[in-house]
Amino acid sequence: MQTSQRVTQFRESVIRDMTRLAIQHNAINLSQGFPDFGTEQAIVEAAVTAVRDGLNQYTITWGYPPLRQKLAEIYSERLGWAVHPDQHVTVTCGVTEAIVIAMMAVLNPGDEVIILEPAHDNFRPAAIMAGANPIAIPLTPPDYRLTPEMLATAVTPRTRALLLNTPHNPTGRVWDAAELQAITDVVVQHDLVLITDEIYDRILYDGRTHLSPGSLPALRDRTITISGLGKTFAVTGWRLGYVVAPDELMRAIRPLHDFTSICAPTPLQAAGAAALSLPASFYEASAAAYHERRALMMDILQNSGFRATPPQGAYYVMADYTNLPIPQAQLPPMAFARWLTTEVGVATVPGDSFYSVPGFGEGVVRFAFPKRRETLEEAAQRLGKLSAAT
Ligand SMILES: Cc1ncc(COP(=O)(O)O)c(C=O)c1O
Repeated sequence: MQTSQRVTQFRESVIRDMTRLAIQHNAINLSQGFPDFGTEQAIVEAAVTAVRDGLNQYTITWGYPPLRQKLAEIYSERLGWAVHPDQHVTVTCGVTEAIVIAMMAVLNPGDEVIILEPAHDNFRPAAIMAGANPIAIPLTPPDYRLTPEMLATAVTPRTRALLLNTPHNPTGRVWDAAELQAITDVVVQHDLVLITDEIYDRILYDGRTHLSPGSLPALRDRTITISGLGKTFAVTGWRLGYVVAPDELMRAIRPLHDFTSICAPTPLQAAGAAALSLPASFYEASAAAYHERRALMMDILQNSGFRATPPQGAYYVMADYTNLPIPQAQLPPMAFARWLTTEVGVATVPGDSFYSVPGFGEGVVRFAFPKRRETLEEAAQRLGKLSAAT
């Protein structure tokens, strides 16, 4: 049977592979980034009510109007221009769909899109689905810093877009002013489109606040801003993402969304509108809980012999295992992650799976910590055996 050439260029997600392995071996799943704690009751009730009230048919392809209205209000303020719900907002089936249709909207076959690595694993397939060539800039631990020189080396006459994820999965980085300036310079100078993935925009530490790159005056007309509700509201299975973009870019994106998924699930969009109406106290409680989880995760890593830098945002930490006093510390990341899942009972993601460039991400695995205290404590017990091995 003949299949397409494009499907030879990528495979299924390693992250979700690791989840399947965790289930198979009854391991604690700190691989895939989803919460194991409950969703805010008001949001759940809003979804149930929407289903009961009969919001069970297609909604307008761009998204359920009250949700778009809410997003337009939020993003008018955040981006500093008049975001109109009927012109500039489209609700998608997760950020994953949003990234794919954004790439398809701006890239032609043979075009290049710059992706900072380590990268969430759907960016590269999305570029390939659009027929484009993903060009990686591999960043290295411990600080994963981006420099203007790296950007200058990556850009070519075929470059059309740059994808920026902030706060960043898997490193936990929040790009600073100098890095954002370097990105702005290259995007403007080479007439690129900036596609952002801001899915962790509400998960920040140590008093940081989120800056949407599309709010920078030089980037306003050329940025496709993407985010979603799955992480903020602990509803990753609801598949709710969205795109905010100026007229011309949004006109290109909408037909792609229309013929990819028609619309995101209507009752869940209604609950999404309710979620975005929650008071500030929800975000305060969520931030406090994430600070606790991060502190616990960092303690666990330190006590069990991993080396890691605390994330500035999102809910992941890249941890170096090469100093563990066990022979497995010499294994490559995939073999180490498999061993940790099957023999120790804790699932992570191999660091090199976040890079397309060989030789990067060695000696590192990613831990995801959006988990209940009991889950993390059980992981601590199991991982504690690693340092006790001496
Ligand atoms: C950076 C990033 N983008 C996108 C996604 C997927 O988002 P969604 O579940 O809304 O498709 C994830 C999930 O982990 C992510 O980390």
